[in-house]
Amino acid sequence: MPAITASSPGKVILFGEHAVVYERPAIAVPVAQVKTKVTILAEPLKSPGSVLIESPAIGLHADLDTLPADDPLALAIHHTQAALNVDHLPAMTIRITSSIPVAAGLGSGASVSVALTRALAAFLGNPLPDEKVSLIAYQVEKKHHGNPSGIDNTVITYAQPIFFTRGQPFELIPVAEPFTLIIADSGIKSPTILAVADVRKCWLENQVFYESLFDKIGVITQQARRFISNGPCHLLGPLMTANQDLLKQIGVSCPELDFLITTALDAGALGAKLSGSGRGGNMIALVAPDLAGAVSAALIQAGATNTLITQVLPSKSNC
Ligand code: PMV
Repeated sequence: MPAITASSPGKVILFGEHAVVYERPAIAVPVAQVKTKVTILAEPLKSPGSVLIESPAIGLHADLDTLPADDPLALAIHHTQAALNVDHLPAMTIRITSSIPVAAGLGSGASVSVALTRALAAFLGNPLPDEKVSLIAYQVEKKHHGNPSGIDNTVITYAQPIFFTRGQPFELIPVAEPFTLIIADSGIKSPTILAVADVRKCWLENQVFYESLFDKIGVITQQARRFISNGPCHLLGPLMTANQDLLKQIGVSCPELDFLITTALDAGALGAKLSGSGRGGNMIALVAPDLAGAVSAALIQAGATNTLITQVLPSKSNC
C-alpha cells in the first residue's frame, strides 16, 4: 500500500482575536509558507494495532498505546476512529513534520490535528468531509486550550480567508485584490491558554469596560471585512493599528511586540498588530509589496527571530 500524505497550513488572525472568544467576529487567513505534513505508512509485517508515531521536531518516537489519553495526537486519532466507526487500527507508522513554530500564534496545534485526521481517514479508506475534520481538530483544541473559539481549526481546515463568529456558521471571505503581510516572530513562546485565562479574569472583574473593548474590535472587524471583499485593501492598515490599540488595552500585548509594531510602522508598514493570543508569538504588518524586504529587514534588526512574507490573494471567483 502506498504511503498516504496530508498537509495543512498555518494561519494568522487579521482581526478580532480575544474578542472572538466573546462572540464578536474575527477574520483569519491561512499561511501556506508554513505547514504540517503527516505521512502514514502501512506496516504489514507488524501485528495489527501497532501504531508508531514519529515527530522529530518534538523528539517523539512512541507507540500510540504508550501516549496519555489526553495527548493531542492520541485524541485526534481516537476521534477519527470514532467518526469512522473503526475499533481496531491496522499496523502503521505515522510521521509528522511541521515548519509551524509552536506557541507562536500560527496555529501549529490545529494544523497537526487537521493533517493527522485527514491522513488517517484517507489511510483507512474513508476520507472525512471538511466539517468533520474541523470538528475533530476543535475537540482536540478544547482539551488543550481551555475555551477556544474554533477559529484556528476552521481557517486551517478550509485553508481560505474566513469571517468567523463563535456559535454561527463561518463565511469564506472573497478577496478583492492581493495584499502583502509580513509575519514576524517575537521569539517569545506564549501558550494561548494562559492569555485567554488572564483575559477572562480581567473581564470578570470589569465586564463593562471589556465588553466595550470587544464591541469596538467587532466594529473594526466588520469594516475590515468590507475592505477585503471590495477594496481598497490598503485601508486595512489603519484598522490593524486601531485593533492593536484595543488589544493593548485588553492587556495582551507586551513590550517586545510593541517594539516590533512601532518598528514596522516606522519602516513604512501601512498598519501592524499582534496576531493570536499575544504576550509573545507573532505580529503582522500590512505592507506595500515593494517595501516588504525593507520592513522585514527592520524587524529582524529590531529583534524578530524570523519573518515571513505572505500574500493574501484574490479568490478564484474574482480573478
Ligand atoms: O494564539 P492562537 O493563534 O491560538 O490564537 C488564539 C486566538 C484567541 O482569540 C486568543 C483564542 C481563540 O480561541 O480564539
